[in-house]
Amino acid sequence: MPDTTTPFSAQIRTATERQHADAENSTFMSDMLGGGLGVAAFYRYTGQLWHVYSALEEFADALAADPVAGPFVRPELARVAHLEDDLAHLGGADWRADLDPLPATAAYAERVRECAREWPAGYVAHHYTRYLGDLSGGQVIRGTAEKLWQLPKRGDGVRFYVFDQIPNPAAFKREYRELLDALAVDDLEKQRVLGECQRAFDFNTAMFRELAGEFPTRRQG
Ligand code: HEM
Repeated sequence: MPDTTTPFSAQIRTATERQHADAENSTFMSDMLGGGLGVAAFYRYTGQLWHVYSALEEFADALAADPVAGPFVRPELARVAHLEDDLAHLGGADWRADLDPLPATAAYAERVRECAREWPAGYVAHHYTRYLGDLSGGQVIRGTAEKLWQLPKRGDGVRFYVFDQIPNPAAFKREYRELLDALAVDDLEKQRVLGECQRAFDFNTAMFRELAGEFPTRRQG
């Protein structure tokens, strides 16, 4: 039975609660944010994000006028240029040579592109999963990264996490959820979007699993 009383944004949140916990508590995230990994892991992770956001943002112009995805595409969210600044700071002039995508990252970016081309509501699922997360838990990651690797506060290395043009993230997220609640698709399509959000989380978890394989925890003592 489709749920017609719970706002769609709340349905998404509930549908992805377990996956969110899995992503947050993944070995890679826990090890990295717990201080168990060096800045090389953060650099590698940032490089993987470059692929995901390149896919998300490559279609911004094409989707701007789309009735379903268009309202979500906002220039103040754009992250690729910031990721490139961070990568240059963390990796030096040759950062592009270190960009090879992990298999999970390549599959993730490919799925984002496929949705952007063929299924705007599915693209919204991927847009939500990354950008609303960046505006939320991303801020925890930024603070921890600044401390662990002595990166300039809100500066090079962590610019990806800084939304200069969104002065009030809480208000922005509220408006974003209102857009989700007003998504112009029928109930069956909403069920499919919920499934795609779960898939988006799973792509992130798969990426973390492969990153954990590259960066085993540095155990002390
Ligand atoms: C250590 C890692 C993480 C931490 C500490 C974290 C923390 C949080 C927190 C505290 C919120 C709630 C913010 C609020 O109520 O406004 C949140 C929301 C969110 N997070 Fe995360 N998160 C992490 C990783 C992730 C990952 C990997 C993703 C997916 C790629 C993600 C996606 C989201 C989304 C989409 C929301 C918005 C939920 C909603 O209000 O609909 N998070 N996160």
